Amino acid sequence: MKTAQKILLPTFAAVVLTACVTDANSPGLEYMPDMYRSPAVEAYVDYGQEPYEVGEEVARAQRNTPSSRKPVPGTIPFRGEDELAFALPYPYAQTPEEYERAGVELTSPLVTNQANIEAGQRVYEAMCTQCHGVEGKGDGALSTNGHIAGIPSYADKLKDLPEGKMYHTLTWGKGLMGSHASQLSQRQRWEVIEYIKVLQNGGEMPEFDENGMPVPAGEVEQEESKPAAPAAPAGMEGMAMNAQH
Ligand code: HEC
Repeated sequence: MKTAQKILLPTFAAVVLTACVTDANSPGLEYMPDMYRSPAVEAYVDYGQEPYEVGEEVARAQRNTPSSRKPVPGTIPFRGEDELAFALPYPYAQTPEEYERAGVELTSPLVTNQANIEAGQRVYEAMCTQCHGVEGKGDGALSTNGHIAGIPSYADKLKDLPEGKMYHTLTWGKGLMGSHASQLSQRQRWEVIEYIKVLQNGGEMPEFDENGMPVPAGEVEQEESKPAAPAAPAGMEGMAMNAQH
């Protein structure tokens, strides 16, 4: 015990005393300073590689290289294969001729399926009904209260309007309808067009199969009658339906 004290005490005293320095601004002896003094690294500054490894000359050159630069004008963001269709710039100018050209050439990159139609319906109900009306007859509040006159019905005057023209109008605006390019992403514009195509056909949502694909109108009745027979609860409707077919 005595020997331990003889060795430990002076060692402890030596450590404590050497940790103290007279300079008031000095933190004294620090044990593992990296642990509590992290380097103040700035964003977008390239500090280069360790000079010890690559040499001071290389490291200095690296330190003078900005790590982040603005993309050159005209750069197209690349967001992977699926997103590419929605990242490209719109190639049709805001002229009547280009409107016609878009009508002929431009087609939707989206599949007509339940997910896209329903997404389009949500956009439509939030952004378009105030003018176009819930059913797309041109009788939204802003139309009936007289603020915006002459909004055409999708199922009537616009029944055969091609999707390319719709997209052009959504992007640039037309007549009293302003551009919606800043409010709707390219995907949302194509989605709402999927729903307008439903409104062009009277507004009845199509039936969807188990993959979410619309069932062509002719096949819908057969599809319905099949499950209707066993599912009908000793019901008159089921029997009546079977009798009809
Ligand atoms: C401020 C009222 C207003 C809003 C909001 C509005 N529209 Fe329109 N829309 C109009 C008017 C007015 C026209 C007729 C433009 C013309 O032909 O002069 C029109 C025309 C259209 C056409 C036919 C374009 C063509 O090429 O003939 C489509 C498609 C359309 N709108 C879709 C939409 C969709 C989708 C939305 C919601 C994202 C929307 N509109 C929001 C007023 C509006």
